[in-house]
Amino acid sequence: MRHCIYPGTFDPITYGHLDVLARAARLFDRVTVAVADNPGKEPLFTVEQRMEMLRPNIAGIPHVELTKFEGLLVDFARAHQADAIIRGLRALSDFEFEFNMALMNRHLEPQLETIFVMPNEQFSYTSSSLVKQVARYGGDVGHFVPPNVAAELKRAYAARR
Ligand code: COA
Repeated sequence: MRHCIYPGTFDPITYGHLDVLARAARLFDRVTVAVADNPGKEPLFTVEQRMEMLRPNIAGIPHVELTKFEGLLVDFARAHQADAIIRGLRALSDFEFEFNMALMNRHLEPQLETIFVMPNEQFSYTSSSLVKQVARYGGDVGHFVPPNVAAELKRAYAARR
């Protein structure tokens, strides 16, 4: 039974993240989506809101679970007896950050592998911050995020006006 963790801030989830998740679900028997309670990133949405936005979008993907975590990812992975961490590499610009993070995690927990998958190239320029920037000024983000996420972004920015 191969188990991987797909960690992220997911502020908010995008179609690019969902593409990575679908690939992970094809490779592993069990996938845990782990939403980081990452206050350092000053997320727009609380961890509970991010999980609520994820829930309907992962419902159709087999053997995928959803949870949150805080603290070190390797501790979470160890506690959940995961074999691997999965991360997406959209472009060369992701590489350095991901490479350093993978090596640090390997230093902390040598048994835990990090596996990279490439999302579909149509998502190579999608990021949660760019999506938020477009949504903030009233642009259409329907190409990048599921309808429930687009609606939550609209609501969040309307409340701030
Ligand atoms: N499609 C779209 N966007 C993607 C993407 C994809 N396939 N893959 C990455 N991204 C983007 C996100 O949109 C996000 O964009 P933003 O920076 O503009 O908001 C960015 O890449 C990364 O976000 P995300 O994938 O949500 O993950 P993250 O990099 O915020 O997550 C953790 C990092 C949570 C995995 C890491 O900080 C962690 O492990 N924290 C726990 C503490 C710890 O163990 N630290 C030591 C690590 S060495």
